[in-house]
Amino acid sequence: MQTVHDVPALRAASSALRKGGARLALVPTMGALHDGHMALVEEAKRHADHVAVSIFVNPRQFGPNEDFDAYPRPAEKDVALLVKHGVSLLWMPGVPAMYPAGYATNVAVGGLGDGLCGAARPGHFDGVATVVAKLFNQVRPDCALFGEKDWQQLAIIRRMNADLDIGVEVVGVPTVREADGLALSSRNAYLTPEERAVAATLPKAIAFAKAEIEAGGAVSDALEAVRRALVAAGFQSPDYVALCGAEDLQDMAVLDRPARLFVAARLGKARLIDNWGVDPQ
Ligand code: PAF
Repeated sequence: MQTVHDVPALRAASSALRKGGARLALVPTMGALHDGHMALVEEAKRHADHVAVSIFVNPRQFGPNEDFDAYPRPAEKDVALLVKHGVSLLWMPGVPAMYPAGYATNVAVGGLGDGLCGAARPGHFDGVATVVAKLFNQVRPDCALFGEKDWQQLAIIRRMNADLDIGVEVVGVPTVREADGLALSSRNAYLTPEERAVAATLPKAIAFAKAEIEAGGAVSDALEAVRRALVAAGFQSPDYVALCGAEDLQDMAVLDRPARLFVAARLGKARLIDNWGVDPQ
C-alpha cells in the first residue's frame, strides 16, 4: 500500500492506478477504522480494480463544542488494517494540505441538510460536502462508497455529486451491526462498559417502532415510544426521533412511501445515530 500526504503525490499515484482504464474506488473515512469501514473496502473491491482510502479528521465538520480534539486517531492500527484488506492507496493529508492558507470555498447543499443532524449540528453538512467534493476532485475515483448509517450524509453527497456534475458513482453500503444490533461507529469507543450495555436499547427501540408503524400503528405514538424507551434506559433527551421520506428526508406523519426512522441521542460522551428502513406493506 502506498501512503501519500500531499496532492501532487496523490495525483501521480491515482493516475498510475487508473492507467489502462483500470477502475479506482475511494472509501473516504476519518480513521479509527472498524468492521463497518472494512465492509466498505470489501464492497469497493467488487466495484473497482483498485481501492484508495482517505483518512482525514475534517475540522470543518465539527462544531466549536464537539469532539474534534478527542476524536480517536489510532494511525498505526488503521494502516495495518488497510494493508490486511488489500488497499492500494492511502491518502492521509494534514490540515494544511487539505485547507492551505487562504482557503475560502464552502460547499453547501440546500434543503437536505436543514433537518435531523443538520438542525442539531449547524454547519456540519457544509463541512462534509466541502471535504467530500475536494476528495472526489483530488483522488478522481470512478466510484466512492459510504455507509448507510449516515443516511442523511449519503443523500447530501449524492445531491452534491449530481449538482456539481462530478460524475463519481456514489454507492451506499448497509450498516454493519454488533450482535445486539448496535451500529458500528468510531464514537462507540467513548462508551463505558455500562453505557455500552444501555446503547443496545437504541436499535431495539427503532426495530419495535418500525414493526408498529409497518403494522399500521400511529407514527406519532411509535416515535414517542422510542423517545420514552431511550430516556428510561439512560440516554439524554434525543436530538431527534423522526420518520422521514427515504429520498427527500421530509417529515412524514403517515407511512405513504418508503421511509427511514432516524434517531440521534447522547449517552455519556457519545452521540449515537442510527436509521432503519420503514416500508409500506
Ligand atoms: O463519514 C465520515 O467518516 C465523514 O463524514 C467523511 C464522509 C469521511 C467526510 O469527512
